[in-house]
Amino acid sequence: MKGYWDERFSKGKIWGELPSNTVEAATKLFLNNGVKTVLVPGAGYGRNSKALATTFKVDAIELSQQAIATAKEQDKQTTYIEGSVFDLPIPHKKYDGIYCYNLLHLFLLSERVTFIQKCIDQLAEDGMIFLTCFSNKDTSYGQGVEVEKDTFEYKPGKVAHFFSEEDLLNHFKHAEVIQTGSIDEKLVYIDQTERTYKLRYIIAKK
Ligand SMILES: C[S@@+](CC[C@H](N)C(=O)[O-])C[C@H]1O[C@@H](n2cnc3c(N)ncnc32)[C@H](O)[C@@H]1O
Repeated sequence: MKGYWDERFSKGKIWGELPSNTVEAATKLFLNNGVKTVLVPGAGYGRNSKALATTFKVDAIELSQQAIATAKEQDKQTTYIEGSVFDLPIPHKKYDGIYCYNLLHLFLLSERVTFIQKCIDQLAEDGMIFLTCFSNKDTSYGQGVEVEKDTFEYKPGKVAHFFSEEDLLNHFKHAEVIQTGSIDEKLVYIDQTERTYKLRYIIAKK
């Protein structure tokens, strides 16, 4: 997994400089709920953590050394931690908020369950999480070999899970779900090609 992402990020800022549109929504939500500290798991080269760090004290954990090197060049405010989300918790730290963009769907079921629990455990009392993931309405649903229900191996060793609303809610059954929804998000790639993804998001409290 690390080798795959290092290779992808060696090509530069593959999804451009701009943060996801969801960063604005997450910022409003976090401000309305008194959030001051935010953890960003799977931060990539920092396009979202950099934007969040203009308002919050942000730590980001990311597997790819290559992505972290790029992130650190352009964002001096976020604290970037090289490592896997499966190495959480970060000792002696609790966060008021977690913002996680398009990481959860990269994992198999047992890993997804572990990752979500690790996020919940890393939150302060009443902390909240804003998370996005692939929707089962996305056009890439069904491409490749189905290795688990709604999870497809679309390249050797690379899987993507596609969430229905019910499935997403079920993943968060140990948290207090505040809201779920669907969004269309356009990504403009470094080569200027574009692709609009159908995503789901969830807002949940510890
Ligand atoms: C689809 S990308 C999204 C990147 C970033 N959230 C963004 O929107 O620009 C998924 C990211 O998760 C990272 N990642 C994958 N597995 C990880 C793990 N186990 N721990 C930490 N980061 C991981 C990848 O290196 C990659 O940067």
